[in-house]
Parts: sequence; structure tokens; C-alpha cells
Amino acid sequence: MLTAAILTISDTRSAGTREDTTTALMVALLEQIGIEIVATRLVPDEREQIAAAIVELCEDANLVLTSGGTGLAPRDVTPEATRSVIDREAPGIAEAMRAETAQFQRLAWLSRAVAGTRGRTLVINLPGNPKAVRECLGVLEPMLPHALKLSSGADTH
Ligand code: MTE
Repeated sequence: MLTAAILTISDTRSAGTREDTTTALMVALLEQIGIEIVATRLVPDEREQIAAAIVELCEDANLVLTSGGTGLAPRDVTPEATRSVIDREAPGIAEAMRAETAQFQRLAWLSRAVAGTRGRTLVINLPGNPKAVRECLGVLEPMLPHALKLSSGADTH
């Protein structure tokens, strides 16, 4: 069974001053498409903590899905942290989320989300708000099973 770990990146949610709803939403949406959730983590918008969490979560999951910290605010550093720990970028995945969801939400272009592989794990950034998570996962859903089969090495032809 394909496995995923979820990393929610938010100063306010990790401090408990704002309720974390995106973690539960990501769990539910991934389980709906048959992906088993093996871990969830919540960290503040700190580059080192984000990078360390991605590295750790990659140990045990085929997919690490992050949400938050992809925008233009001064503390948004998720893309930089992600780039520092992935081996190969998969720009098409991030571009598909932006291009497809921008057809009904122009602000989608403001997300600097990246995607790529670390070892045999696929890492994908999503924006932080629940509406954006839902919309972006809608774009990912049809391609995720095949992408994970390839990145995990299960598909060897
Ligand atoms: N993408 C989709 N599909 N739907 C959205 O509502 N919001 C945008 C963008 N991407 C949005 C979206 C907004 S308003 C911002 S600021 C950026 O994602 C970055 O969000 P983040 O900093 O929470 O990651």
C-alpha cells in the first residue's frame, strides 16, 4: 500500500493560536484515494525545522505532502527548505497545480510551491489554506498513484 506523511507548516497553528484544519483535511483526502497516512507533523515557518521534518518523514513514506509557507510573506520559506533536501525537482507537478487552479482562483499564481524527489520519496508543497489544499489535491489526485509507483521504484519497466 502507498504511504504518505503530512507536514503542516504554520507559525500560528504550531503555536496553537489558530486551529489546524488542513492536517485532518489532507489525511481524509489521501485516505479517500487509498493512501495510508503513516505520520503527521506540525512545525513553525522555520527553514531548518521544515527541512529536518521533511528529511525525517521521507524515511518512512512514499509521499511527503506539506501545506503552508509557500507564499510571498517574509516568513514563507517552505520552497527553500524543500529545495535544500530534495535531489531532483519535478516542476510539472507544481506548475499543474498552479495552472489548473488559477483558472478559477488567480491568486494560485502567488504560491511558490515546489515538488521533487528525495531518494524514493516524492515531496510536494501545497499552499496553506484548506480551500487551496482541496483544490490542489483535486489536481494531484489523478496523477498521484502513477507518480508514486514510479518514484518508489515499484514500477521498474
Ligand atoms: N491555490 C489555490 N488552488 N487556491 C487558493 O485559494 N491561495 C493562494 C495561493 N495558492 C490559493 C492557492 C494564496 S492567497 C497564497 S498567499 C499562496 O497560495 C500561498 O499560500 P501559503 O503561504 O499559505 O502557502
